[in-house]
Amino acid sequence: MATAETVRVIFRPAGRSARVPKGTLLTAAANQIGVPIEQVCGGKGTCGKCKVRLLSGTLSPVGPAESRHLSSDELAAGYRLACQAAALSDVSVEVAWASAAAGVSILVEGLLEPMPLEPIVEKMVVQVPRASLEDQVGDYEALLRVLPPSAGQPPRPSLSTLRELPAAVRAADGLVTVVHADGLLVSVEQGDTRDALYGFACDIGTTTVVGYLLDLNTGKRLSVASTLNPQTRFGDDVVSRIEVAQRSAEGLESLRQTIVEAINDLIGQACAEAGVPRERIHALSIVGNTCMHHLFLGLSPAALGRSPYVPVVAGPLQLDAIEAGLRAHPSAQLFVLPNIAGFVGADTVGVLLATRLLHKEGVRLAIDIGTNGEMALGSRERMVACSTAAGPAFEGAQLTHGMRAADGAIDHVDLGEDGQIQVHSIGRGKVRGICGSGAVDAIAGLRRLGIIDATGRLLSREEVGTLRGDHLAERIVPHAHGGAFVLVPAEQTAIGGPVLLTQRDIRQIQLAKGAIRAGIEILMAELGVGPEDVVEVCLAGAFGNYIRPESALTIGLIPRFPRAPIVPVGNAAGAGAQMVLLSRQAWREAATITGQVEYVELSLRRDFQQVFMQAMEME
Ligand code: FES
Repeated sequence: MATAETVRVIFRPAGRSARVPKGTLLTAAANQIGVPIEQVCGGKGTCGKCKVRLLSGTLSPVGPAESRHLSSDELAAGYRLACQAAALSDVSVEVAWASAAAGVSILVEGLLEPMPLEPIVEKMVVQVPRASLEDQVGDYEALLRVLPPSAGQPPRPSLSTLRELPAAVRAADGLVTVVHADGLLVSVEQGDTRDALYGFACDIGTTTVVGYLLDLNTGKRLSVASTLNPQTRFGDDVVSRIEVAQRSAEGLESLRQTIVEAINDLIGQACAEAGVPRERIHALSIVGNTCMHHLFLGLSPAALGRSPYVPVVAGPLQLDAIEAGLRAHPSAQLFVLPNIAGFVGADTVGVLLATRLLHKEGVRLAIDIGTNGEMALGSRERMVACSTAAGPAFEGAQLTHGMRAADGAIDHVDLGEDGQIQVHSIGRGKVRGICGSGAVDAIAGLRRLGIIDATGRLLSREEVGTLRGDHLAERIVPHAHGGAFVLVPAEQTAIGGPVLLTQRDIRQIQLAKGAIRAGIEILMAELGVGPEDVVEVCLAGAFGNYIRPESALTIGLIPRFPRAPIVPVGNAAGAGAQMVLLSRQAWREAATITGQVEYVELSLRRDFQQVFMQAMEME
């Protein structure tokens, strides 16, 4: 019987290789062995981010998508799109730096407002009496006799608890430690183990995943582990992943397994760093947007992708972690924070928990800016929330030289009145591209100098020359994307050409900021408040943490609130996930947030288009 011919694909600089059937796409080969390559569009050939360079061997002929996204110089140098090029022989390819989804800065810190330490799982020590011929009581019933009423009447045992029980009650003279959570007997351990009580909180972002190992006795964080969300190989945004999950049951299962494995790896890393066996973790919590929540649980996100955009389940869930595929104590409990709506998920609940906005007087705005901008506005009296599709421009995608906030990315740009440009990039190496906060700074700086007008038009070289002189005019160069401004000249970059901000990049950022700004304007109208009523703006998430407030105001991403300081709150969703493990009160509050927040469906607002068009304008 003839067997399919196989070829070997080597990925440089990692040096890892995959043996695959001849004709396999390079992305499929990379995915098979876990080599990270950015696949923003999920392999549709529309984002141009999966660039690799052929070092040796033969690939399939250059296709139309590659001709569109690669310049003639790049094609001549051997650059290809990994999602379009198939291996026809043994090949060696170099993953273009900006395509390697590695070296990315991941935000882990988040504001955590103090709450009383009252962990969601508790331990107590009891002495279980021995059975005798006169009293042939079962082990479980003997335990029930000595449990105080506060432990529940009677607590439900998990199956693994019953399995642990015989050995536990016969060792250490019947002295056992009972682990319980909300009426459930989670575990029974030999002797007094009250010193060891651990929880693991996880924030599943569309782009990154962060896990926190907590000592639930002290409330201290023992270690943090983070990674890029490996589901990005199925597409960078939630819509691409919903499409994959919708296409087949296998697609949904692959997405589920991918994230579950990643979380299990994070648990392993965090436990190794802290010297805590994973079997000692008795409680876990999860936050994420509604799509990440569904994919993690293996729930179909199909209904999220079409009107009326409803989740499978909105409320909070307490599950056996093992059932969700997580590896910790066999009876560990998993607390999944609730969703507010199809596109306002448990991550927003986490932000509201961490910032305590529902407990405060005065109107406050919380925004988490990612590919979707999720935002909530209000106070203890009333809170409204919405989600707008900002697209991935703020994460550096869809920009000509865009990249994530990783080594080599321009993250800040200063443009002085005298036309001097100072560019700051992440890490020590040469500049390789620009990330969202850098693009916002650059656009804000050019707007302040008048080089971009209020509609977002980049002035011509002649206009800039008249307005600002030759020094800046020389930086305006022709480009297929409607002209460009040279941020860093070719000789100072590591990509063999200049790093540019093109007219199309400015439009992409305008579209993204217009969506966010329109959401804020509509929430203010819904609540019946104006900018002067808002007393605080909390910017959550990585982009919100790194963006300069003044630049955000200049490009009109956020209205000028005369009384409101802009406070970066970091990974507040992750902070919310930690809070529910540390405080039963926080878990109870999380359960009620869904009912307290009014969701505003922007597609029902007739004025959305008009507000959005206005919101595209710069200051
Ligand atoms: S073009 Fe290849 S993943 Fe988008």
